[in-house]
Amino acid sequence: MPRPHVVVNLAMSADGKLSTRERRQVKISGKEDFSRVDRLKAESDAVMVGIGTVLADDPSLTVKSPELIAARRARGLADHPVRVVVDCRARTPPGSSVLRKGPGPRVIACCSDADDERCRALSEVATVIRSGEGQVDLEALLSALYQMGIRRLMVEGGGRLIGGLFARGLVDEFFTFIGNIVIGGETAPTPADGPGFTREESFTRLTLFSVERMDHGVLLRWLVDRNTAE
Ligand SMILES: NC(=O)c1ccc[n+]([C@@H]2O[C@H](COP(=O)([O-])OP(=O)(O)OC[C@H]3O[C@@H](n4cnc5c(N)ncnc54)[C@H](OP(=O)(O)O)[C@@H]3O)[C@@H](O)[C@H]2O)c1
Repeated sequence: MPRPHVVVNLAMSADGKLSTRERRQVKISGKEDFSRVDRLKAESDAVMVGIGTVLADDPSLTVKSPELIAARRARGLADHPVRVVVDCRARTPPGSSVLRKGPGPRVIACCSDADDERCRALSEVATVIRSGEGQVDLEALLSALYQMGIRRLMVEGGGRLIGGLFARGLVDEFFTFIGNIVIGGETAPTPADGPGFTREESFTRLTLFSVERMDHGVLLRWLVDRNTAE
């Protein structure tokens, strides 16, 4: 089934953590990386996060630069990409920034067995797509996003959602900014959380496309080897 091109972007500490063990957001990169991420977002048709990230960081997922918004308008696009939250149990708070800030369509991806009343309330402010039981069916979701015209999907975290996407071979590009701090903590989120992979054949293989010094760290751009990812 056709699906969008999936670009995962994250920032991690020098010891591979996305945030603290209490899941408190940490400034890992700097201005240059912030602008790069804003450009990546402006070039995407949709930007997606998991509910863990919405509850921890309350991101708006909007494009910040007025110039990038103007460039999108000039191309006949909405100011911001479609904002997508993977939220099995329909827990996205009505007052969250992703629902409140900035114009444009939102999608909440819930499970088929999510509470009907919560889904109905969310459907007043977002398109609700229901699939999977216990976990959102990510293949079905991506296929539905493709049907909506989304060809380039940026994923901004967190670790469990990214782990789920890698597990199903649904990642095409992987940007990792590595910053100059050590966060530590064995339960702090990492780039591909969830159960992880044990068999060699299930490891996603990557090709290093570029390495760039940026802010006080380094940006790696990886491409997923299609013939080896499951
Ligand atoms: N440094 C960075 O670049 C960066 C970026 C983003 C986030 N973060 C950090 O990452 C942390 C949040 O990450 P997280 O791992 O807790 O949460 P997450 O990946 O944002 O969301 C995970 C949740 O999504 C839902 N989900 C539904 N279907 C799923 C599926 N098929 N696969 C995976 N998840 C599915 C599950 O919750 P339900 O079952 O309740 O739906 C799951 O717990 C925060 O600390 C945040 O600060 C860091």
